Amino acid sequence: MQAVTISFADNGSLALRESAVPPVGSRDIKIRVHASGINRADLLQRRGLYPPPPGVPAEIPGLECAGEVCEVGSDVSLFRPGERVMALLPGAGQAQYAVVDSELAMPVPVHLSWAEAAAIPEAFATAYDALFHHARLQPGETILIHAVGSGVGTAALQLSAFAGAGAIYGTTSRAKLGKAKELGLTCGIDYHSEEFAQTIAAREPQGVHVIIDLIGASYWQQNIACLSSGGRLVLLGLLGGAKLPANTTITPILSKRLTIIGTVLRSRRLDEKVLLLRELRRTLCPLFAGQRLKPVVDRTFAAEEVAEAYRYVESKQNFGKVVLLWQ
Ligand SMILES: NC(=O)c1ccc[n+]([C@@H]2O[C@H](COP(=O)([O-])OP(=O)(O)OC[C@H]3O[C@@H](n4cnc5c(N)ncnc54)[C@H](OP(=O)(O)O)[C@@H]3O)[C@@H](O)[C@H]2O)c1
Repeated sequence: MQAVTISFADNGSLALRESAVPPVGSRDIKIRVHASGINRADLLQRRGLYPPPPGVPAEIPGLECAGEVCEVGSDVSLFRPGERVMALLPGAGQAQYAVVDSELAMPVPVHLSWAEAAAIPEAFATAYDALFHHARLQPGETILIHAVGSGVGTAALQLSAFAGAGAIYGTTSRAKLGKAKELGLTCGIDYHSEEFAQTIAAREPQGVHVIIDLIGASYWQQNIACLSSGGRLVLLGLLGGAKLPANTTITPILSKRLTIIGTVLRSRRLDEKVLLLRELRRTLCPLFAGQRLKPVVDRTFAAEEVAEAYRYVESKQNFGKVVLLWQ
């Protein structure tokens, strides 16, 4: 099969190369992939900074894909050959075939294209888990979502609106604010020209109940200032760095009784992912089928254009997801 392949010896260059199709275990399905999502994590993997879990090839990126089941293992009852699925993968999803535990796949609603389906698993699984398992967002609660125009951010925004959050705040660059408002954002903050903590202080004097943070260190002090008493911060990414200034105080964690939670989806045990995906098949899939949630695809590229597609994501122009399409 053809697979996107990182050449670590050549500065992380990307090309399509021939690779062996992985064997199908008794719990697995083999997917003839039609579309593969690109995630910011793939950019890190390419630079050798985000290696996949053991047993997953480091040189083939891809945390999600959509396609047709073409083979099932002897113990699989969830899917049959010919069914349309989208799957959460520990890696190697940017290839013509992907082999994955059947429990990590979800059925694709009929109205969704392959590109739309491939834009769902990683962003929505991450956002759902962060909002409802970790932040325990309640109807009416206020929330601040950083990088709200990212794949994960656009998913968190839609899920927060659907869950009946109170005011939803989000940081992103100016060009993305209008599109975020169409998805339910109450108030967008252009982080290039505004200190978000000032905007939140003016509009929510008690602070926000929940922050979904993809940025990390550079936002830490403003985040802590913005949280209400009893507030919850879920840290999902470190786009703004990992090191806090030496004089950083943690007193407000105590005085405001804050909960700070960090979480990563990819490195979790299979049984933990299986539980999450079972829940998503029950809760999220009907919402996509009923068109109450929609995958946000910014742009698609042919698989052969993979280097350009990665450059586009790196340039931060995308609102929502960028997807590779396979012939
Ligand atoms: N913990 C987990 O399980 C998990 C799972 C999935 C993703 N993540 C993390 O979530 C983050 C978003 O992933 P994604 O794939 O959704 O991203 P994405 O679609 O590539 O979007 C990232 C966006 O973040 C914004 N941004 C703000 N500050 C930035 C900075 N300092 N550097 C780069 N971008 C910055 C940029 O948009 P604007 O500048 O226009 O706002 C950029 O387009 C990543 O850190 C990723 O590693 C974590």
